[in-house]
Amino acid sequence: MKKLIIIGGYGNGTVVASTVEDVNLQKQEWEIIGFLNDRETNPINGYPILGKITKEVVDQYLEDENVFFFYTLISTKLNHKFLHKLLDLEIPDNRFATIIHPTAVVSKFAKLGYGVCIQPFVNIGPNVEIKNHVQIYAQSLVGHGAKLDNYSYVANNACIGADVHLKEGAYLGTNCSTLEFISLGKWSLIGIGSVVLKDVPDYTKVVGNPSREIGTTK
Ligand SMILES: CC(C)(COP(=O)(O)OP(=O)(O)OC[C@H]1O[C@@H](n2cnc3c(N)ncnc32)[C@H](O)[C@@H]1OP(=O)(O)O)[C@@H](O)C(=O)NCCC(=O)NCCS
Repeated sequence: MKKLIIIGGYGNGTVVASTVEDVNLQKQEWEIIGFLNDRETNPINGYPILGKITKEVVDQYLEDENVFFFYTLISTKLNHKFLHKLLDLEIPDNRFATIIHPTAVVSKFAKLGYGVCIQPFVNIGPNVEIKNHVQIYAQSLVGHGAKLDNYSYVANNACIGADVHLKEGAYLGTNCSTLEFISLGKWSLIGIGSVVLKDVPDYTKVVGNPSREIGTTK
């Protein structure tokens, strides 16, 4: 089995761990050896905290070629301002895991990068391109031809129209829908339940149906 370290904790980290547990029910693939977390010291859901999120700790584990990482610290609050937390670790690209829940349906014509997690009952259409460090939460639908750039985040039950482009770090809240062909700008934030009918500029926060601008993420 490959060994997995999840960077994060309660929240995204535990959801990713839960997906890994389900993957292992089908085929023993990953041994979760623990979390890296700056705040917790007690085990999280039975998995130990291996240390803080530092390059020193990461370097120790990189010595074992069978250890892989998953970075979960992307959310409405942990946006581009905190990306250095990942980049400073200098983890080689080939040491990030990609995890797909066994109930997810992923077209054979979709492309997936590294550090990607696809959660239960997600449907990824044909010719979708998902880059790196992208998390897609339960029951979301990614329409054919959509492009999800690095660090984009799709919360549960989102419905992404065909050929939509989520630019770097775009965050789509729970239960959002988007019209086809539009783009969601870099590090834009789409509030829960929004219906997005037109392009969202970079670093822009929108909410509602139809969605309207309420601020920036800068
Ligand atoms: C958009 C969001 C980040 C809040 O941003 P914010 O800048 O703190 O906004 P505020 O809470 O100050 O609200 C500003 C205004 O937008 C409204 N608003 C906020 N979120 C909204 C939403 N999703 N839909 C409609 N209106 C919303 C508020 O009611 C408020 O309106 P008012 O000025 O008329 O009182 C948050 O509401 C949200 O939707 N987060 C996404 C949650 C999510 O999907 N999580 C993933 C699963 S855990």
